[in-house]
Amino acid sequence: MPDKVFFLLPVFLLLLGCQKDDQPKPDELEGLMAGGGTTVFSTGPDAYTFPLANIGGYLGQHAAGDAAFEQAFVTAPAPQFGGIGPVFNQNACIACHVRNGRSAPPVHTGDPATGLLLRLSIPGEGAQGGALPVPGFGVQLQTKAIFGEMPEGTLAVAYKQEVVEFLTGEKASLQLPVFAIENPYQPLPVGVLTSPRNAPPVFGLGLLEAIPEAGILALADENDSNGDGISGRPNWVWDIKEQRTVLGRFGWKAGNPTAVQQTADAFNHDMGITNSYFPMENCQGQGNCQSGLSPGLDIDDDFVETTAFYFKTLGVPGPRGLDDEVVKIGRELFDAAKCSSCHVPKHQTGSDAISALSFQTIYPYTDLLLHDMGEGLADGRPDFSASGQEWRTPPLWGIGLAQVVNPKASFLHDGRARTLEEAILWHGGEAEASRNFYKNASKKEREAMVAFLKAL
Ligand code: HEC
Ligand code: HEC
Repeated sequence: MPDKVFFLLPVFLLLLGCQKDDQPKPDELEGLMAGGGTTVFSTGPDAYTFPLANIGGYLGQHAAGDAAFEQAFVTAPAPQFGGIGPVFNQNACIACHVRNGRSAPPVHTGDPATGLLLRLSIPGEGAQGGALPVPGFGVQLQTKAIFGEMPEGTLAVAYKQEVVEFLTGEKASLQLPVFAIENPYQPLPVGVLTSPRNAPPVFGLGLLEAIPEAGILALADENDSNGDGISGRPNWVWDIKEQRTVLGRFGWKAGNPTAVQQTADAFNHDMGITNSYFPMENCQGQGNCQSGLSPGLDIDDDFVETTAFYFKTLGVPGPRGLDDEVVKIGRELFDAAKCSSCHVPKHQTGSDAISALSFQTIYPYTDLLLHDMGEGLADGRPDFSASGQEWRTPPLWGIGLAQVVNPKASFLHDGRARTLEEAILWHGGEAEASRNFYKNASKKEREAMVAFLKAL
């Protein structure tokens, strides 16, 4: 596995670097404190599980949130943590966000272990501009059910192989997952839109939430007025508690505005746990939702907020080996290829209720905006303002540790990219020129770009 050798290399060089007399120049280490004062320096499988380095007095609240994030819910009636389902995808947050990182996409049809889910809708716009639920299925295919009820269907997957050739003659093979719904518990209407979504990592999100809206909107260039072919735009989504349209930040299409609403959404749609944000079971009126129903809400707002507090206060792992010669070249090429036009390295947080997150200089490598990524990545399913070809630029901090944390983790919204190189090769649309830069680069240059990503 060349991947494993690569991730060890920067760590090794960082260690060597510590013993060298010539100290690296300060600008080489720009971004070392990826999460500002919250940064943790850890490189093992638990790299995404440490609290903010500056957590101070919040540690107790963080620990309570940790328990909530790991809590497996059971069928009602139960003395505690009942109310799962009747239909659901997994029984705990941690089941999909493996060690707080990303999940593995399904290997075969009906794979029960995956954290990848299929969003559903029918064409048209829902009440607050969101997706229109599929009658009898809602906005997500729930592939599990409590005892005695039927799951909505089986997630089928088949992989097609594709080959990409570099200018220098070498080849890379890509795999395209094709998803389908098998054994629906009742016939699906024609024309259902689907969007496969793999579980992303959850650390550092308190910091992303603390970036002032103006800081993100300043990066938007909807009409590409600077003519660089890149035109990020915000997703405008519905904030349930505020009852108004606000900037979307979370999810692969930035379809959720806040960490708390994202959490309430996950409880309801991924686990079948009702709460004040989503008070209805995710299967209103469905024939496969007759049992396991509890009176009232399954969890209160306090539980939702405690769960969100956990991942909001997870520390960001710092990069490894930024002063390594190859990584330094990779970093320059990352800029030259205009990767940094979307994966914007540096941001500043504003004032936050959690003081440890306030006024930090951070290096998440995202603009949190939507970009047209071309037909190759399109799902054809709109999500608030996001079109079927648009995706939110995902943060790249900590990405070099993704497969240390979960060896089966993969990249992009549907987990199709087994390596960071494959992720780059799928870029299209506004990122076509960046992808071509990579395809036309020498082998050494390509290796340097990947080494830089692995150092993050
Ligand atoms: C069935 C798998 C699954 C379960 C269970 C699950 N998630 Fe997720 N999570 C996902 C997927 C898939 C996404 C991406 C969703 C999207 O694009 O809209 C996601 C997105 C997120 C995000 C946004 C990350 C980002 O970078 O924007 C957060 C935060 C999150 N989940 C927290 C939770 C919490 C808290 C729970 C438990 C209450 C939970 N998740 C349960 C699969 C899951
Ligand atoms: C036009 C904006 C844009 C540009 C330019 C761009 N990216 Fe991306 N990048 C994205 C978006 C959006 C995604 C998510 C696409 C998806 O999941 O379908 C992404 C995904 C990724 C991922 C996978 C992230 C994950 O969490 O799975 C990596 C790695 C990545 N980009 C690296 C690069 C590199 C390296 C370059 C330059 C060669 C680059 N990107 C240029 C917007 C961009």
